[in-house]
Order: sequence, then C-alpha cells, then structure tokens
Amino acid sequence: TFPEPVPGYTHDDPGLPPSPVTPAELEGLLASVLFGLADQEALRLAGDVLSGQIEQVLDVWYGFVGAHPHLVAYFSTPQGEPIGDYLGRVRARFGRWIMDTCRRPYDERWLAYQHEIALRHTEPKKNQTDHADSVPHIPLRHIIAFIYPITATIRPFLAAGGHDAEQVDAMHQAWFKAVTLQVALWSQPYAGKAW
Ligand code: HEM
Repeated sequence: TFPEPVPGYTHDDPGLPPSPVTPAELEGLLASVLFGLADQEALRLAGDVLSGQIEQVLDVWYGFVGAHPHLVAYFSTPQGEPIGDYLGRVRARFGRWIMDTCRRPYDERWLAYQHEIALRHTEPKKNQTDHADSVPHIPLRHIIAFIYPITATIRPFLAAGGHDAEQVDAMHQAWFKAVTLQVALWSQPYAGKAW
C-alpha cells in the first residue's frame, strides 16, 4: 500500500546518528512496561493482522486528528491552514511505522530511529523532512495523551483477523506496551537532563 521506500523514512539510512539512549536504558524501559517474549510474538501476529488494514487504521487516526483543531494545528501553517502535502507524506511514514512497531527488532538501529522520530516532533527537526511551512514544535503533553487513542482505536483492527479473544487481548496489550515504550523514548529530547 505504500511506495517503497517511503519518502523521508530513514530507518535504514547509514547516516542515521546513534540514539543518546543506551541499550541498558532501553532494557530498563522494556522491563518497566513488562515487555517480554510473548509480547514480541503477539506483535508479530498483530503485524500480520494489520498489514492489510493500514489505510483504514490511518483513516481513523487522521479522522481523529482532523476532528480536533488543537491537533490538526501541528500539520498546519502558523496561520492555521492545514498543509495537505505534509499530512499526506507523514501519513505514509505513519503507515510504515505501524508495521515496524510490529515487526522490527528493538535493536540499536531501531533505537536510533526512535530518536529521529522524537526530534521530528520537536524544534530541531519538525518540518525538515517534508520542507513544510508548519509550526515548529509539538507539545509533549499531546504526545503523551495520544497514547490512548492510538491504543484504543487499534483494537477493532486487531480483532478483524478472526483470532480468539485471548489472542486479540495479547496483541492489544503488546501494542499498548510498544506505544508507551516509544513515547517514553521520545520524551528524551523534550526532557533533556530530566530524562
Ligand atoms: C510524525 C507517531 C503524537 C504530529 C510522526 C511519525 C510517526 C508518529 C510514526 C512519522 C515519523 C517519521 O518521520 O518517520 C506518533 C505517535 C504519537 C504521536 C505514536 C503518540 C502516541 C503526535 C501528536 C501530534 C503529532 C499528538 C500532534 C498533532 C505529528 C507531526 C509529524 C508526526 C506534525 C510530522 C513531523 C515532521 O515534520 O517530520 N508521528 N505521533 N504526533 N507527528 Fe506524530
């Protein structure tokens, strides 16, 4: 469903700088969200279930953002005009991210791209990838609050593969952990020394 490669999605770019977050810090966070082998397996299954539904998931998430002026503002010009090209290009990367959250090993390269995603929500890198004339920064409070809709709205898509309730629940819990983990990582450039 997405062009290969996705424009601006630099996960495997050899020039990607390493994350300031250490593998030991990642280990700690994985333990804090109780992420284990069963979650890895559940996410792999979630990837299979979601792979044919990415556009529909993105329709729901973009519908949610579009319905809230305080969110769509971050895809808009400083004057408040939504930027269609920016929304579209980020949408493709968001789709790839869903699959990577399910299928990628959470190794040092993945960690490096987590840092890149964090920077793209903040002053140092927002707008650069798409040369967008948008506002320069997304407040951390919105990133944290977004964990809920990103988690709640995925459940019907996880259930659509016909798996039993226990498996759907395992996929949903693993997804919730993976999103919480990533937002904890993304808070690093926001928090600086307090991280
Ligand atoms: C970019 C996920 C919260 C606005 C992205 C990307 C992903 C993502 C995967 C693309 C990264 C890439 O370039 O490869 C998430 C998740 C969130 C979250 C999982 C919270 C759980 C938010 C919130 C907003 C927002 C609350 C505000 C409306 C944006 C914008 C970009 C972006 C404007 C493009 C940044 C750029 O200029 O490159 N997000 N996001 N995100 N997100 Fe978020």
